[in-house]
Amino acid sequence: MLAGGIMSGTSLDGIDAVVVQLEGARVQTLAFHSAPYPPEVRQALLAVSNAETHTREIARLHFLLPELYAGAFLEACRKARVKPAQIAVLGCHGQTIYHEGQPAPCYGRRIASTLQIGDGNVLAARTGVPVVCDFRPADIAAGGQGAPLVPYVDYLLFRDENESRVALNIGGIANITCLPAGCRPEDVVAFDTGPGNMVVDQLMAHFTAGRESFDRGGAFAAQGAVHPEIVEQLLEDEYFARRPPKSCGREQYGADFLRRFLSFGLPPEDAVATAAYFTAAAVAEGIARFAGGEDAPPARVIVSGGGVHNRTLMRFLRAELPESDVVRSEIFGIDPDAKEAIAFAVLARETFEGRPANLPSATGARRPAVLGKLCRP
Ligand SMILES: Nc1ncnc2c1ncn2[C@@H]1O[C@H](COP(=O)(O)OP(=O)(O)O)[C@@H](O)[C@H]1O
Ligand SMILES: [Mg+2]
Repeated sequence: MLAGGIMSGTSLDGIDAVVVQLEGARVQTLAFHSAPYPPEVRQALLAVSNAETHTREIARLHFLLPELYAGAFLEACRKARVKPAQIAVLGCHGQTIYHEGQPAPCYGRRIASTLQIGDGNVLAARTGVPVVCDFRPADIAAGGQGAPLVPYVDYLLFRDENESRVALNIGGIANITCLPAGCRPEDVVAFDTGPGNMVVDQLMAHFTAGRESFDRGGAFAAQGAVHPEIVEQLLEDEYFARRPPKSCGREQYGADFLRRFLSFGLPPEDAVATAAYFTAAAVAEGIARFAGGEDAPPARVIVSGGGVHNRTLMRFLRAELPESDVVRSEIFGIDPDAKEAIAFAVLARETFEGRPANLPSATGARRPAVLGKLCRP
C-alpha cells in the first residue's frame, strides 16, 4: 500500500512529509520533503503553545496549517513521482499546542488533555487523499497519556529476536523505546527522557538575538566546556526518577526553563555545551533506570530526529552510553529526519485498516485503541 505521513514536532522547525510503500512490517521510503515554517508562522505557533492567547489565533492556525501541510505532502508526492490519487491514506500528527498526559485537576475532576491543531478535513480536501488525524485522544479516552505513539512503529521496525535495542528520537524532546531481545508488545517500555534539542535551540536563539535557531553540526557547543555540576543539579528533578509512562514537552523545557538555565550565568559556548550534555545525560539516565539498567545495557541505540546532525551531542551520547553501539537509523533504511513522518504513515494505515496502534505498556492506557479520526476527501 502507498501511504503518506506528515509530522510537525515540538521544535516548531517545520513540516516533514513522506510517501512510503508499506508491506506488513516493511517500509520503503519513496520520498521525503521537509518544509520549514515561515518565521511568522513559527512565531504565531510559539505564541499559542502553552501560552495565554486569543481563541481566534488558535482557530485560524488550525485552518492555516493544513494548507501548509498539503503543500509539503504534494511536494513529497511530486518527488516520489506518485499521484496523490494512488495514495491510500495520509496520516497527519498535527501541531501540538498543549499536552498534559497526566490527569490534572479541572473543575472538580482530574482530566488528561492534549491538543493538536491542523484540520484533517481541509487537508483531505486539498490533497484528495483520506486523512487520519488527531491520533492522541483515543489513547487518552482509554486512560492513557496519549503519548508516546511511535513505539508501536519502533516495535514493528526495530524489534529483534536476539539483540536488545533502544530506539532514540532526538527532536525538541528526546524519547526512547526500549525493545528487549525477543520482546512482546507488552514488554515495551517507552517514555520521554527529557529535553532533546529544545534547550540548545532556545539558547542559540537567545545568544544570537534570534539569528540562529539551532547549533548547526554542534559546532558552537564544541567550543565550550561542560559544567558537570549543573548537569547533576538538573538531573535531580523528580521527573527523571519517576516511573514511566511519562511525557514532557515545551511545558517543562520552554521559556521558564530557559530563564532558569540562563541564571547559571555560563558563557554562551559553555551554556550550549552543558545543555547538550544534559540531553545526553538524561537519555543515559532513562536507559539506566528503566531500560535494562547499568547491568544489562542495550546492545544498540538507534538514533533518529534532527539531533543526529549535532555531532557534539552524538559524541556526548556515545560517552554516556559506552556499552552500547550508538547508530543512526539509516542503517535500518530509515532516514533519521523522516522517521516520525514515516511513523504516522504506518499509524494511519493501522487506523485505516481498523487495527489498534497504541501500546498500553507505553502510554498507560487500559486497552489497545484504534487511533485517530478519518476524514474523507
Ligand atoms: N544540521 C543540524 N545541526 C544541528 N542540529 C540540527 C541540525 N538539523 C536539525 N537539527 C536539530 O533538530 C531539530 C529538529 O529536529 P526534529 O526531529 O524535526 O524535531 P521535532 O520533531 O521536535 O520537530 C532542530 O530544531 C535542531 O535543533
Ligand atoms: Mg521537526
